Amino acid sequence: MSREGRKPQLQDFGDLFMPDEAAEPILARPVRAALLEWLTEIWAEPDLKAVGIKPRKRAIFDGPPGVGKTTLGHHLAARLGLPMLAVRPDNIIDKWVGSTGQNIGALFECARRGLANPRVGPDAVMPVVLFMDEFEALAATRRAADTGADQHRNEAVDTLLQRLEQHDGFVIAATNFGDRIDPAMWRRFDIHLTLELPGQEERERIFERYIAPFGLPGAALTAMAEALETASPALIRALCENVKRQIVLGPKLKLDMGKGAVIERIIASTHPHPELGKPRLWSLGAKDHAMSLMPWPLPMADDVAEGAAAGPPADAANIVPFGGRG
Ligand SMILES: Nc1ncnc2c1ncn2[C@@H]1O[C@H](COP(=O)(O)OP(=O)(O)OP(=O)(O)O)[C@@H](O)[C@H]1O
Ligand SMILES: [Mg+2]
Repeated sequence: MSREGRKPQLQDFGDLFMPDEAAEPILARPVRAALLEWLTEIWAEPDLKAVGIKPRKRAIFDGPPGVGKTTLGHHLAARLGLPMLAVRPDNIIDKWVGSTGQNIGALFECARRGLANPRVGPDAVMPVVLFMDEFEALAATRRAADTGADQHRNEAVDTLLQRLEQHDGFVIAATNFGDRIDPAMWRRFDIHLTLELPGQEERERIFERYIAPFGLPGAALTAMAEALETASPALIRALCENVKRQIVLGPKLKLDMGKGAVIERIIASTHPHPELGKPRLWSLGAKDHAMSLMPWPLPMADDVAEGAAAGPPADAANIVPFGGRG
């Protein structure tokens, strides 16, 4: 980390996510319920204080790549009206003995000071939610210190444990490898949320959100979500964005805009995460049943909704999955 002798600041450790840029992830019901419970607890801080307890402030999100861990952290911070600092381990881990621990100390010191809030006043600060990404890189299980490097890593875990204990703000850790986290570290987090790959219903809603302003009629949407079994939300988003890119750019580039040709180009340019395997759509391509049901050219979502329902068109609020407050 190069700070050229100046005092460290939050942005030295990662990226700041502001509350007004957050989007709400589409999540399975149990995760939504757990979240609402946590938010209720946080909002009830004064009532909890009155009975001598505090809301829980440390959560760990575990789950495969692209299921929405970062998105959820950002959304939560936004619901609390706070910015989130997404800390990357690369900005903390240092090959020099002792420096990783010092960086951890400097990070928590910055987080304690908070973020300047010039909109409110020259000295105003707001607390930040610390989001510690790829947490296994910083908090892996300690092991017998056979080498200097092991010892260095173990010391960093000890420092992190202490700092977490002392820190009064919100900390969310995220990992794709929950089983690699040091058990003592794991216990410091009082909320554990596992984000799974989306089920059929969530895949339908995720596809609907990212294919908008286009849309699919009911049966085609169901078939599409079936063809996308095992896809992460990130992959579904990338697929939908590639569809829209083709619709806009294909004619300008004078590409074959026949349904089969477009589908094959989209699949070839959308890459499932190597750890997650390929959903059926990638094996069958244009021959997939879901593709035979897909109307082409793609209709606009409003037209689909009007055609399907005799009543008023579905409004945009239908895709906001998690009501609650805010
Ligand atoms: N549950 C979801 N609902 C809607 N969109 C999602 C969801 N999960 C992920 N996305 C979209 O996929 C992209 C990647 O999501 P995100 O970075 O939050 O995943 P992640 O779990 O943090 O992945 P990684 O393990 O790679 O850090 C984002 O653009 C986000 O908009
Ligand atoms: Mg992430």
